[in-house]
Amino acid sequence: MTVLLEALPYIREFHGQTVVIKYGGAAMREESLRKGFAEDVVLLKYVGMNPVVVHGGGPEISEYMERLGMEVKFQDGLRVSDAETVEVAKMVLLGKLNSDLVSRLNMAGQAAVGLSGEDGALFEVAPVANAADIGFVGEIEGVDVDVINHIAEDYIPVIASVASDGEGNSYNVNADEAAGKVAAALGAFKAFFLTDVPGWLDDPEDESSLVSETDAATLEAALVGIEGGMKPKLGAALDALKGGVGSVHIIDGRKPHSLLLELFTDSGIGTKVTP
Ligand SMILES: Nc1ncnc2c1ncn2[C@@H]1O[C@H](COP(=O)(O)OP(=O)(O)O)[C@@H](O)[C@H]1O
Ligand SMILES: [Mg+2]
Repeated sequence: MTVLLEALPYIREFHGQTVVIKYGGAAMREESLRKGFAEDVVLLKYVGMNPVVVHGGGPEISEYMERLGMEVKFQDGLRVSDAETVEVAKMVLLGKLNSDLVSRLNMAGQAAVGLSGEDGALFEVAPVANAADIGFVGEIEGVDVDVINHIAEDYIPVIASVASDGEGNSYNVNADEAAGKVAAALGAFKAFFLTDVPGWLDDPEDESSLVSETDAATLEAALVGIEGGMKPKLGAALDALKGGVGSVHIIDGRKPHSLLLELFTDSGIGTKVTP
């Protein structure tokens, strides 16, 4: 009861607002978490919010690559992607993860529609600057939100982070980057990044060093020294904030219902980043 009462003012405040949720990694790994995530997103739609999901699938793409005897390599948190890697990434992201998530949202009571960066010409991509080293990794240069807005009128849009250029080359796009750009293009109220740590940590080795609230300037300063998967995530958070998103939240995807806890409780559970 107290939980509901605590949530009430937030439900009122958030009504009609668009939220972009980057889903992936830890929260995708476990059956109970996948189910819980779908229920949370459906609940947001039920209380009148407009949730848009963007997902990656890093661990699962790597798993399939290994099954096929392919070498898995990352550089600065981005997957080194030759043409075959992109092909596998696309198959896993769209054929498996995207359709799984759509099906789960459907089962949870709210119909969803899956799409990639190609659908409705959603993403305009160009090869990243260091494409010579990391291959078919695309940088998003434009987002045409028209298709998202159409779908969101009746369904929950679920976006897989792949895209192709005007010449038919497919590109792997980092899902954090995609989520940040989508949030900015939509002028979202909030953007959430589910990850495998409690949030932004003062000391990356110490999970109890969670920073509950910080701002864009502080994150930008921290970006210099950082490596691995947090780097594209912070970049995406900054993209979103510079693009006018009200706040970015980095939350623990290993924790059941982390999305609802961050949105609808006074204390929240992760890191809130304000412009
Ligand atoms: N200051 C930091 N705070 C939190 N995580 C950090 C920090 N610096 C590096 N990291 C690393 O970033 C990782 C999260 O990014 P990533 O591995 O790409 O996972 P995901 O894409 O699922 O969020 C954490 O597991 C952690 O090891
Ligand atoms: Mg990552």
